[in-house]
Amino acid sequence: MKDTKVTAVSLQEMKGRAEKIVSLTAYDYYTSRILNEAGVDMILVGDSLGMVVLGYQNTLPVTMEEMLHHTRAVARGNTRALLVADMPFMSVGVSSEETVRNAGRFVKEAGAEAVKIEGGAEIGPHVESVVRAGIPVLGHIGLTPQDVLVMGGYKVQGRGDKAERKLLDDARALQERGVFALILECLPATLARKITESVLIPTIGIGAGLHCDGQILVLHDILGMYAGHKARFVKAYAQLGEAMKEAVGIYFSEVRKGVYPDGDHSY
Ligand code: KIV
Repeated sequence: MKDTKVTAVSLQEMKGRAEKIVSLTAYDYYTSRILNEAGVDMILVGDSLGMVVLGYQNTLPVTMEEMLHHTRAVARGNTRALLVADMPFMSVGVSSEETVRNAGRFVKEAGAEAVKIEGGAEIGPHVESVVRAGIPVLGHIGLTPQDVLVMGGYKVQGRGDKAERKLLDDARALQERGVFALILECLPATLARKITESVLIPTIGIGAGLHCDGQILVLHDILGMYAGHKARFVKAYAQLGEAMKEAVGIYFSEVRKGVYPDGDHSY
């Protein structure tokens, strides 16, 4: 099964078999190849690109052109995973026509197989237009980083009865509009479980506990390659930032001492 191409439909079948979906972000060709070789089910070219690759303060400045450029690179290295491109701030919601046109560019010009759209029931009509145009949509509710200015920071969402009801309604509304799966970001695990049990589509959690149908994290976070804010849910499985600093430091020192290049590395 590991060689079979993953599609939006096969991710839904995984929920039916209670098989966990494994997903990560990627922003370049070589990382995409490595994730495929390691057996990733879904790659998201996230607009987290803005912070971990481009050095912006948040995701708001990320443009369509930047997202298209990095999606193309990831597509070149992708063989098996479902490739999802994140629709950046202001590329969704001005009108359904513009939303569909922007979503279409990811598929036609960059090789994406689905797009991700942040937001709840209020963006339902735009989601439906994109799905009708033949493009699978991954929903994203809970902490939606493109709303950082409105939310006043990155905070756990869905606390209290009213907020809980709103997120359950959002999940069902987006399912009705045709999303093939839902990212649940920064929610109490109990609420994420309720949402997961109340929809037929898979839920993919990030800071939403163990009961989602799958998990996603930002690649730079799990590799220890991002020095910015580290949320409580992030687990670093390596310290590549430190390893990189050490490796380049040894190279600098060998060059300064005249040790590199030695005979084995010269013609
Ligand atoms: O931009 C992003 O990387 C995301 C995540 C869900 C990780 O939206």
